[in-house]
Amino acid sequence: GARSVELPTYAFQRQRYWLQLTGAVRSGAGYDVDSRFWDAVEREDVASLVGTLAMDDENGWSAVLPALSAWRRGLRTQSEVDRWRYRVSWKPLTDAAAAGVRLSGSWLVVVPSEGVDDTAVVDALAGRGAEVRRVVVEAGADRAGLFSDVGSVAGVVSLLALDEAAGVVATASLVQALGAAGVEAPLWCLTRGAVSVGRSDRLVSAVQAQTWGLGRVAALELPERWGGLVDLPEVWDERAMARLVGVLAGSGEDQVAVRSSGVFGRRLVRATAGNAESWTPSGTVLVTGGTGALGGRVARWLAGAGAGAGAGAGAERLVLTSRRGLDAPGAAELVAELSGLGVEVSAVACDAADRDALRVLLEAEAEGLTAVVHTAGVLDDGVLDALTPERFEGVLRAKATSALNLHELTGELGIELSA
Ligand SMILES: NC(=O)c1ccc[n+]([C@@H]2O[C@H](COP(=O)([O-])OP(=O)(O)OC[C@H]3O[C@@H](n4cnc5c(N)ncnc54)[C@H](OP(=O)(O)O)[C@@H]3O)[C@@H](O)[C@H]2O)c1
Repeated sequence: GARSVELPTYAFQRQRYWLQLTGAVRSGAGYDVDSRFWDAVEREDVASLVGTLAMDDENGWSAVLPALSAWRRGLRTQSEVDRWRYRVSWKPLTDAAAAGVRLSGSWLVVVPSEGVDDTAVVDALAGRGAEVRRVVVEAGADRAGLFSDVGSVAGVVSLLALDEAAGVVATASLVQALGAAGVEAPLWCLTRGAVSVGRSDRLVSAVQAQTWGLGRVAALELPERWGGLVDLPEVWDERAMARLVGVLAGSGEDQVAVRSSGVFGRRLVRATAGNAESWTPSGTVLVTGGTGALGGRVARWLAGAGAGAGAGAGAERLVLTSRRGLDAPGAAELVAELSGLGVEVSAVACDAADRDALRVLLEAEAEGLTAVVHTAGVLDDGVLDALTPERFEGVLRAKATSALNLHELTGELGIELSA
């Protein structure tokens, strides 16, 4: 009865066309008693177990086996998933400042017209050989002509991100304007307190952190004219500025944090399983965007759907919000499905970016609220050159403004969240 099958052509698809061997066999340790037992458990093979252990099923194997099998499969899945997890880590770099680095050529220092003091940066660059030209950007002004006659440029340093009212949008416009003017020099964007390099280094500005998100996209889309991101400490003293110049002069790093203790480079490292904390939902859980694709999945999980490995242990009450509430497509069906799982559900129309509306909702749900899952979002993907302030506004409103509202209001109302 054998038949031939096509062999996989793609080496990494990992669909096996042969029997799975246990770890014991693979490692050559022999097909031992443990493996045989657990294989039978995973197959929920009562007959084989009863035979192996020379006992009858009156001891209740049929009842225990599915749970044991699910537990074992859950562990396997978890260890597989753990292998996919990565996290950011900051590695101390050799201090470039010590080498007495010099810059050359013409450097543009781009500053917002108000609120940001660029003296230290300008002095540091000029003091180390750069011919500095300041370009002051007025808020909301047309940037098309700003770089039309800048001539040959060795590098561009932007302080626009430091303006928390408009920094990320202004930085995107700067990238566009430099491209339109044909300025090929690498662009470096400075922030202050936008990343945290370790436990004792607090992330001060979530707003400036947005520029780090933007910068990583710019690095991928426009590698030929991207310099990097440099996060500066609170105090811009001589040593910090010397370190900044060391980075600009070419350290081979493009995501760097300058701190009083040294210079750190951003790295992606494998997350160990120990980084994952398990969490069991209880009481009331609020899911923003709960009627959307992601929110619906989260809600099913919270309600304990798909019992077994990885299932939520079951919140008692779910509050699903979106701007349309029950009028959103599929919302009524989702509520019915979740109610069928024995959880109390309400779908509420509430714009999470509308602080007053959110406050009313949170006040009403404060008692019993144990967790918030913020899945609300507006999808509007596009390449950097096609971004507009309006597109930023739409996406940031649903995601970032709403997150800030949730964070601040739960704090103000004294709601203690477990997640
Ligand atoms: N789907 C995925 O596989 C996936 C994976 C990773 C990340 N994400 C991210 O997760 C987010 C949600 O994705 P999705 O696929 O679930 O999108 P979706 O199906 O469009 O759902 C978005 C939900 O958010 C709601 N919403 C939008 N603005 C809101 C606001 N201001 N206040 C309250 N609710 C609001 C929407 O309902 P109303 O329009 O009625 O407000 C909708 O219920 C996005 O940011 C997306 O980038 C998605």
